[in-house]
Amino acid sequence: MKTTTFFAILLLTSSMLHGQGFVANIDESKIPAYTLPDPLIFNNGQPVKNRQEWKIRRVELIKIFENEVYGKTPAGKVQLSSSLLSEDAGALGGKAVRREIQLRLKKDGKEVLINVLLFLPKSVEKVPLFLAYNFNGNHTVSKDKDIEVTKSWVRNNAASGITDNKSNESLRGSDLSSWPVSEIIGRGFGVATLYYGDVDPDFDDGFQNGINSLFPEKRDSSSWGSIAGWAWGLSRVMDYLEKVKEVDHKQVIVLGHSRLGKAALWAGVNDLRFAMVISNESGCGGAALSKRIFGETVGRINSSFPHWFCENFRKYNNKEENLPVDQHELLALLAPRPLYVCSAQEDLWSDPRGEFLSCIAASPVYRLLGTEGFPGKDFPDLQQPVIGTIGYHIRSGKHAINLYDWSCFMNFADLHFKKQ
Ligand code: GCU
Repeated sequence: MKTTTFFAILLLTSSMLHGQGFVANIDESKIPAYTLPDPLIFNNGQPVKNRQEWKIRRVELIKIFENEVYGKTPAGKVQLSSSLLSEDAGALGGKAVRREIQLRLKKDGKEVLINVLLFLPKSVEKVPLFLAYNFNGNHTVSKDKDIEVTKSWVRNNAASGITDNKSNESLRGSDLSSWPVSEIIGRGFGVATLYYGDVDPDFDDGFQNGINSLFPEKRDSSSWGSIAGWAWGLSRVMDYLEKVKEVDHKQVIVLGHSRLGKAALWAGVNDLRFAMVISNESGCGGAALSKRIFGETVGRINSSFPHWFCENFRKYNNKEENLPVDQHELLALLAPRPLYVCSAQEDLWSDPRGEFLSCIAASPVYRLLGTEGFPGKDFPDLQQPVIGTIGYHIRSGKHAINLYDWSCFMNFADLHFKKQ
C-alpha cells in the first residue's frame, strides 16, 4: 500500500479512535519496541525440535491462553437434541435446500435453545460447509419469510429501531451484504449460521444468561468469558452437523467476523474437527498482535467488553509487555490446518498490519509440521491475497464482511480441499 494512502486513512479514522477518553495509537512510529514470544520454545526455555515435541508444547500454550486470555471451558457435557423448524426444498430458485433447526442443549435440568439456519446446495456429493455466527439473528441473513425472527436478546440500536432488546420483522434480510448465500451455494458450499446471542447474549450480566445457565459453577479469575462461550457453541453446532448426511464432516470451515472471528479462532484451536479456520477482521484478542499496542488495546477491550475474556486478562491492561503469549501463537495452534486471515484498509482499530505480522510469526510452527505456512514477507497491496497454508488479504473499505471476502475464502477452500 502507498504510504500516502495509508496516512490519509490514519487521519480519517483518527476521530473514530478517540472515544471515552481513550486515544488509540494508530501511528506505526509510536509502537513500542516489543519481543514476541517464540511458540517453539517450551516454558522451561528448551526448544521444540519436532512434531512430537510440538504436541506437548501445544498443550502448554493452550493452558496459557485458557488461564490468561479466554478462560477455561467448563468440562461438563450437555445433551444435544434437534428438531426441524422449517424446510424449503426449493430455496434460492430451486438451487438449494434451506432448513432451520432448533438445537436443544440440556444439562442438570436446564436447557438452552439455539436456532441453526442451514443452506445446502442440491448435490449428490457431500459438500464442504462454512459455519459462522451472525450478529443480528437468522432472519437478517435472508429474506425468506419462514426463518424465525430471533426471540433472543439483541442490542438496542436507533438505526434499526430496536429499543426493547427485541428484534422484529422489519429487519428480515437486513444483513444480506454480509451473507452472499446464492454465491456460496453456486460454488458448491453449504453454509450454517446461528445468532451468537442465542448462545450467550452479548452484555455483561455476571454470566447468568445463555449457556452460562448450564454451568452454574462458582467462577474464578480463569473462568471463561463470552468469547470462549461462543467458541464452545460452535462446537455444539459441529456435533449436530456431524449427523447431517449432506455435509462433508472433514470439510467444515469455521469462520467469524470481528468479535465472532475471535470466537472462531478459539473454536478452531479447541476443536480439531474444524478443517479450516477463517478470521475476518478479528483484531485485538483475535488475529492481531497485542504487543504492538496499535488500534484497540488489551486495556481498552477489557473495559469496553468486560465479559469477553477471563478476569486474568485484565492483568495485562496497559501492560501488554507482560503477556506470556501473543496472538500469533493462537494462530500457530491451528497448524497444520489451513488458516485465512483478512483485514480491511479503513479498519485500523483491528490493526491490519498486526494481523499480517501475526501470520508471519505463526509460520515456523506450520513449517515444523511440514506445511508452507505464510509465504509473504511484505505487506500486500489491496485485493492481492497472499496464499500459502496461511492466507491473508487486505481489501479496501471499512470493517465488514462482504462478497469480495467470501470469494477469497471460497478460492482458498477450493485450493486446499482439492489438494487432499
Ligand atoms: C468493537 C470491538 C472489537 C470487535 C468489534 C466487532 O469494535 O472493540 O474488538 O472486534 O467491536 O465485533 O465488531
